[in-house]
Order: sequence, then structure tokens, then C-alpha cells
Amino acid sequence: MDIARTPSTPDGNPELADAAPSPHEPPTIRREDYRPFPWLVPEVALDFDLGLDATRVVSTLTVARNAKADHSSTIRLNGDGLEVLSVKVDGEMSNSWTMDGDDLLVTLPGDAHEIAVATEIDPSANTQLMGLYASDGMLCTQCEAEGFRRITFFPDRPDVLSTYRVRMTGDAETFPVLLCNGNLEASGKNDDDTHWAEWHDPWPKPSYLFALVAGQLVANTDSFTTMSGREVTLNIYVREGDLDRTGHAMESLKKSMEWDEETFGREYDLDLFNIVAVSDFNMGAMENKGLNVFNTKYVLADEDTATDGDFDGVEGVIAHEYFHNWSGNRVTCRDWFQLSLKEGFTVLRDQLFSQDMGSEPVKRIEDVRVLRGAQFPEDSGPLAHPIRPDSYREISNFYTATVYNKGAEVIRMMRTMCGPERFRKGTDLYFERHDGEAATCEDFVKAIEDGAGLDLKQFRLWYSQAGTPRVSVRVEHEGDTATLRLSQVVPATPGQPDKQPMPIPLKVALFDRANGQHKGEELVILDKAEDSVTFSGFVEKPVLSINRGFSAPVTIERDIPAEDLVFLAANDDDPFARYEALQDLVVRHLKQAVEGELDDADRAEAREAIAGAFRAVLADESLDDLMRGELLVLPTETYLAETMLVADPGRIHAERQALRAAIGSALEEEFAALHTRASAVPYSLSAEARGARKVKTQALLYLAAGNADRGRDLAWSQYSGADNMTDRQGALMVLAGMSGIERTDALLDFYNRYKGNALVVDKWFTLQASSMHPDVLEHVKALADHPQFTMKNPNRVRSLYMAFAYNPHAFHAEDGEGYKLVADVILALDPINPQTAARFVPQLGRWRRIEPKRSAMMKAQLERIAAAPKLSRDTYEQVSRSLG
Ligand code: ARG
Ligand code: ZN
Repeated sequence: MDIARTPSTPDGNPELADAAPSPHEPPTIRREDYRPFPWLVPEVALDFDLGLDATRVVSTLTVARNAKADHSSTIRLNGDGLEVLSVKVDGEMSNSWTMDGDDLLVTLPGDAHEIAVATEIDPSANTQLMGLYASDGMLCTQCEAEGFRRITFFPDRPDVLSTYRVRMTGDAETFPVLLCNGNLEASGKNDDDTHWAEWHDPWPKPSYLFALVAGQLVANTDSFTTMSGREVTLNIYVREGDLDRTGHAMESLKKSMEWDEETFGREYDLDLFNIVAVSDFNMGAMENKGLNVFNTKYVLADEDTATDGDFDGVEGVIAHEYFHNWSGNRVTCRDWFQLSLKEGFTVLRDQLFSQDMGSEPVKRIEDVRVLRGAQFPEDSGPLAHPIRPDSYREISNFYTATVYNKGAEVIRMMRTMCGPERFRKGTDLYFERHDGEAATCEDFVKAIEDGAGLDLKQFRLWYSQAGTPRVSVRVEHEGDTATLRLSQVVPATPGQPDKQPMPIPLKVALFDRANGQHKGEELVILDKAEDSVTFSGFVEKPVLSINRGFSAPVTIERDIPAEDLVFLAANDDDPFARYEALQDLVVRHLKQAVEGELDDADRAEAREAIAGAFRAVLADESLDDLMRGELLVLPTETYLAETMLVADPGRIHAERQALRAAIGSALEEEFAALHTRASAVPYSLSAEARGARKVKTQALLYLAAGNADRGRDLAWSQYSGADNMTDRQGALMVLAGMSGIERTDALLDFYNRYKGNALVVDKWFTLQASSMHPDVLEHVKALADHPQFTMKNPNRVRSLYMAFAYNPHAFHAEDGEGYKLVADVILALDPINPQTAARFVPQLGRWRRIEPKRSAMMKAQLERIAAAPKLSRDTYEQVSRSLG
């Protein structure tokens, strides 16, 4: 249930007028206020009588005083929009209960009792998709973080661990498949048209890991034999027509299980592992014990409907959720401030897995691109928070790139400082010490410290300080000595004006200009505000390669001439550093161009240097195409904006497009030859074929910018000749950004071909909302009236509006219409699905970093949202922080 918010000056309501804070303002929850729960709940029995419009739930809790907590004679059972039908204590109807807001308080005289509470819920009315909801005729659940309290009254906090026994009864035709956590113990038919199933999960778990699914589903079934020889049955449940698109997910699951045994020594612990794909889902997927629930987007894939990127997404998310079985489920979180304990660590685990399954450097570059595109802007704006936040109003707002991706980077730095073997000793100790517990980030750090033999005293600052550190570096040369002069600044963030220096592990190498070689990589740990390191044996000033492999999540300001960047782009043996040198070269030029520092001659000279570096990338036979494709990606407009104190999105867009056109026209024949070569490689999932598809579409992008007619023709032929989604979508992306009849024809063809496939229709919406076409705003407004558009399905909402909000040239339209559209979306979506609505706020929240004219319009839209009479806790928190 949404918490209503009263405006700060509620008209005509004297009771509320001077209440401070307003009684409707959602309270702030603070990490330092953590107290253990006064009661233990060792056992839970749930009885569900399932119906799409009415589901009855009777929950029976065995409770006992928690000797390790303060004494209390009442137990608080959280609820959210629930009504009590009856309460029994020790088998007798009880009157010793009251409601406190949404929560149920039951008075308990003794030390141990049994409480039974009956409630009834309406899954079809649940548009928030938290708790038990109906999706496409089936029933499913999402309980993390606080959804279980929308199903039944319960101490809905991750430090209360219970074993669950669940019985469910439902119509056999509507719900032929009945699934829950753990093992199926019994099932049968009733005399009417209903049937039932009883599930038992032997592993104690917090309520957020509970899951139930009931509906018409079919399974792809397989098995996996664990390292100790136990056979585990694997099922992937989907809608009947989707079965033949589950093969890749199943392969990914088996690879994940094997990899986690080999790499982290983690074995699966039940005889059954079920995955269910649902089409209405707020996030990517959920790691419920033994019953993972997935967004269809991360399960279904085949070559006709999924791109190479989609295949990677399936593999990575399957791995992520599977890995949570240990990092999240066996060891869970004490409270939600510790979210990064499971998410940061699990993201690192899935990143390392994907690195091992494919190209390590390419995966690293992709992960850094995500970090810079999503986390850096968060860390430098009004919503900045440490990976272990100190307070929140709505925890759903903290499932962020900071908690997930920066959280993973922080743990990766520990691994870099001690090496993989010692890191493994640390994680072994962590799992051994805390198995079956609800742990803290501090517990994790301590285990790595003890197990890996690292001193992480100062390093703990990475958990408490927000903001992306800026490291400045300069090389001085005298005699045969090169000196690195390093300094760091951790910028101020909301609530944290003063920061302390943090240990920053930087992999560095110094290249000899004459032979293009270095004498070995070194790990320098910068742990002071300023420091220097000397290296001898250099007759000439060396070329510095720093933060190799992106060893620390920082921004580097290096005082290095453009020709040295060209040198590194061609010679660095660290693939990430090579990519970085090219990116730097481009970023530096575009920054100068946008900030008006270049005359025509400077601009031409810089473009020529960049085109030269790109020519070398195209010609370098030592590169594989996957890596070549990465090197050819221009920095995004969002990332460019992030490098500037106050950005002008219009100028950034224009300069970046102009640079693309200049490169495209300078290298037109090279790109055309690349396109021809790559088009000859037949479809397969091999690295070679995937690389070919990647550079093929990159070539199209440059050709279309440099010579529109040629680019359009080639894109059309790639589109019409495509035998896979990667080529088809790539060509359509290029066409969607151009004018001409080919655009209309291809979009129509694509729609007609795939109109029955929701995930591909999502792509069709996204292609138009994220296109480079000047009329995106009009296109998006028209698409909102398309018969297949709905505000009820998060994938569809994101496919149109999230794509739009993250399309800088459309969102930042000069007249402010983009801002208005996004604010309209937030206001319309908030009553339906607050969690998804709130995810649009951060884009408007960037207003302080945008040029004054647009900035004022962005702020005005935030104020318009803030003035709405009723806002969810989710949106209220994000908007107030963004304005604050
Ligand atoms: N734990 C899930 C994951 O693996 C995310 C679930 C978040 N759900 C939510 N409603 N905030 O990343
Ligand atoms: Zn996760």
C-alpha cells in the first residue's frame, strides 16, 4: 500500500498544518538504529487457498523469546495493506491484538507460543508486483525486500530465519503446476476440481526468500551431478509456446553450478532447482530458495529473437541468481543496509563467471561501461550514497548501481590486492563462519582480512564514503628516474561534506617509447591525499599506463599528451588500458570542442588524430573482432556529460555526432571493407561469429554517419538479409535513426514479423525511443497510443519510456518537452507501480549538472511532481532527495 504524502502546507487542515514532520511523511530508517528482533520464529506453516482474485492465507508461526534481544511482551508482525480475518494464539481465538498502522501487534504472555493469522488478498489487484500477484493468468510472488508483508503478517526483516512448510490448494485447471521453495513432499487431488501440494524447505530463510508459483506452465527438465555426487533435478518453467527458447538458460545454469564448485567451492544444497519465467516483473530476477523467479527477458533466447547481448544477459543473470544460493541465501543480510553484502559480492561472482565463459577483457570493458554510465552519475548527484547506506525511507530505492556495481568493484579491489588464491581463502572463511547467519558487511571484510591476510582497516572507508574518487597523476623524469606524482580527492556528497583519503589500488606500467615495452606491471596503493613513487632505469621519459584493468573505480586525471594516448592505444598490452587510451583521446577532444576551446584547425587536427587511431584499430590483425568492436565504441553522451562540471547536452550530442561523421567519412572504405568481411561469417555463437556481428553493426553506424546514402543502403541489405536478431536489430537501429522510406518499411516489417512475441515487441518500442532520429519525442508520444502499449507491464514501460529517458538528445530536447514527458510518466505510473515510477526520477535529478536553461526546466518538473497530492514513499523519497 502506498503511503500518502501530505504537502508541507496542507490547506485547511489545522491538525496537520504545524506537525513537523508531517505525519504522512514516510519515516527515515537508520542503520545505527538496528536492534535484534525480540522474538525468534523457528517455524512457519503457510496454507494457501489460491484464487486469482481472492487468495486466503493462514499462517502459523512458532515463536519463542530471543534471549539475545531486549525483552518485549508484544510481537510486531508487519503488514502492508492486509486485513486480519482472525488471530489465534496457542490454538484459541485471541483478542489480545491491535493494529499499529499496517502492522499487527499481538500480546504474548509467555516465552513460547503459536500464533495463527488468517488473511485474504486479491492478487489481480496487485499492480505493484510486490507480494503475491497475477501475471498473465498465473500466480507468482516477489518478496524482496518487503513484499512478504503484503501476503501475510510477519516479522518481515532479513534477520528472522525460519523453516517453511507450505500447503497450497487451487483449481487444477487454472493452476496445474504448484511450486514453492524446497522439496515437494506430497500432492493430491480433492473431490472438487481442486488439487493440492505440500512443500518443505529444510533451510532456514528470511521471508524475502519465500516464493510461490501456480499456473499453466511447462518445464525444460535436466539434471546436474554435484561435486559430492548428488543428482539435482533442474527445471525451467515457462509458457507452453516458449519451451524451445529455454536451452541457453539451461546450459547457463549447468555452467554456473560447475563454475561455483570450481571457483568458490560452493555446492548446491537441495535435490531440486526450479526457475520460473514470468512476463510481469519489476526487476531482472529473484533468488528465492530453490525457486528462482525470472523476468522472461533473462530466460528466453534463440537466434531469431535474441541478440548476442541478450544471450549474455541470460547467462549472467542465471549465474547471478544461482550464485545467491550461497552469497545471499546460506549467508544472508542482517538488515537492508547490508544489501551490498549479498549484491556486490554476487555481482562480482557473476562478472568473474562471465569473464571465464567468454572474453575476459571484453567483459571487463562492458562492466566498466555500465559502472560509468549508471554508477558514476549516481555518485556525483543528489542520490549519491555509500555502498552501505546509512538511512533510507524506501529500501526499493537502494537497489542501485552503487550497491550492486560499485559494491562489486570494492570487493574486486580486495581481490586485486591479495590475488585470487588468498581471496578464495577469505571467501571460504566467510562462508564457513557465517553459514546459516544473517551477516553484515563488516563480517565480510573481517573474514577477508583474516582469511586472506590483508589489512583492511583504512579500506573500510569504501563502505562508508560515497563519491567517486578523483586521482591526478603526473610523471616527472630526471636522470634515469621516473617519478609518479599521485594525489586523490574524494568529492563531497549529500550528508558527507568532508572525506578522508582511501586506499586506491592502481595497476601501473611504464612504457619505453623506443621499443614499446614495459618491464612489468606494478600495483601501487595510493592511500594518502598525495604521494609519489619512483622507478629507475629510464633514460627517456616513459609513457604511463595506469589503472590497468580498471583496478580501482576512480576517475583518473592524467597529464599526458595526445600522442602518448595514441601510443598506448596502439601498444598497450593491457586490453583495458588500450581501450581507455582511445576513450581518453576522444573524451578529451569532445570536451574541448563542447567547451568552445577549439578553432576549426584544432578541431580538424584532433579529428585526424582520432581517425588515425581508429584506422590502426581496423588494421590491427592481432585484435579479435569482439575486442575491435569494443575499441570502436564512442563514449556515450551521458559519460561525456559526467566528465563536465556543467554539461550542455545539445552541444555534446552535436559534437559527438560530428566526430562520428568525420571518422565515418575518413574511413569510409575501411568500414565498408570491414562490413563485407564480417558479413561473410556464418551465424554461430562462436567468439569469431559474435565478433563479426559486433563490428558489422559498428561499421554501419560509422558509414551511416559519414555517407548517409551508402549507410542506409547497407543497413537495408543487412536488415533484409539477416538470419539472426543481432544483425536484424543492429541494422534496424541504424535505419531508425535516419530518414527515408527504408526506416518506415523496416519498422513495419519488424513489427509484423514479431507482433506475437512480447520481448521482441519491447525491442521495437526501444529501437524507436532510443533512436538518433530528430523526431523521437513525437514518435514516443504516438507509440504511447499503440494498442500493444500498456503502463501495467514494467518491461513495456521500460521499453518505451526508460529508453526515452536515457536517450540524451531526446530527453534533453531544448524546449523541455522531454522533461515534461518523463514527469508525466512518473505521475501516471506512481499509483500503479511506485517502484518502477521512482526509477525515472534520477534522470530529472541530474538538473544541477546541466546548463542553466535546461536545468531550470528539469527542476520545475521535479517540483511539479513534489506538489502532487499523493505520492508513493518510493517517488516521494527520490524526488525530495533530488530537490534537497
Ligand atoms: N535480489 C534480486 C537480485 O538478484 C533483486 C530483487 C530486487 N527486488 C526489488 N523489488 N527491489 O538482484
Ligand atoms: Zn542479486
